[in-house]
Amino acid sequence: MPEKNGPLQSNWFAERQALTRAGDLVLLLTADLKRYVIKLTPGRDMHTHQGVFAHDELIGQPYGGAVVSQLGSQALLLEPSLTDLIKHLKRGTQIIYPKDAAYLVHKLNLRAGSTVVEAGTGSGGLTTALAWAVAPTGRVFTYETREHNYQLARNNLDRVALLPYVEMHLRDIEEGFLQQEADALMLDVREPWRYLEQVRGALRTGGFFASLTPTVNQVIALLEGLEANGFADIGVEEVLVRGYKPVPERLRPEDEMVAHTGYLVSARLIDASLDPKQWLSKERRRYQARVEAQARMAEAEAARAAERQAGGRKYPKLPLPG
Ligand SMILES: C[S@@+](CC[C@H](N)C(=O)[O-])C[C@H]1O[C@@H](n2cnc3c(N)ncnc32)[C@H](O)[C@@H]1O
Repeated sequence: MPEKNGPLQSNWFAERQALTRAGDLVLLLTADLKRYVIKLTPGRDMHTHQGVFAHDELIGQPYGGAVVSQLGSQALLLEPSLTDLIKHLKRGTQIIYPKDAAYLVHKLNLRAGSTVVEAGTGSGGLTTALAWAVAPTGRVFTYETREHNYQLARNNLDRVALLPYVEMHLRDIEEGFLQQEADALMLDVREPWRYLEQVRGALRTGGFFASLTPTVNQVIALLEGLEANGFADIGVEEVLVRGYKPVPERLRPEDEMVAHTGYLVSARLIDASLDPKQWLSKERRRYQARVEAQARMAEAEAARAAERQAGGRKYPKLPLPG
């Protein structure tokens, strides 16, 4: 019998079928609305509060149909979504939430065939979403310093059959990335601004950069770093998703929501011969213009004060109104 989290027998990700096969990952949605993501393994049982489901009886069943436990309770047999996979992976670190992962895939402009570099791997939550987007012809190159996390993420990716699309590195990105000319690069580390030189070495000119950090202080440091390191088209965003209670007669938002996960900073690497200052955001330009105007006014005021002190009154005193 295959070991619990061992390699899949079926190429579940690449070949979707109408009927379940041994080795498939399936979502079992039980009558009490609990969600179980399980790998169908001959001879194994799935124990739930709604009774035991024998894997043998789940194999060869149509996706979208119902199966019955030994207690007679029905459960839906479904294909797990990417969100199900991310929520069910084993965690050793904080993982990127599906709402952020989904938008990151968009901001990094990923599609089948893209190459994307990522650090740190953590539990492989974001790696799962990145591999999902770039497979089958693209690749994710992911970096992690902690061996425990590296192994955990490896197992998580293997379980969901996405490992073939990922190259994992147990390496500190301080030493640089081993790739060049990547289409996109994503940093989920505490001090992303410390690695921008390494990012420049790995990303192609025009490539997409993004980072997710939980505090405003980190965003400020990263913005300053990006401006100083040849990045343009810089943006800061936050993704808020509000769920609704799906009751047609009384449709209203859920009472609680995930209020904060992180700030998403995105940018594009531009040609080294260009001056990134020319490509600052409208708001940044306006702010800089104001600071420069204030500096000019302060300079003029200082010059006037110096003249007054020197005794000469260059400017005539204006008569008071009235
Ligand atoms: C917040 S976790 C990443 C979570 C991941 N995005 C996920 O969704 O599962 C940050 C990870 O970055 C790793 N890390 C921190 N600094 C690093 C560095 N300089 N090089 C490589 N990995 C690093 C940490 O060990 C940690 O596992």
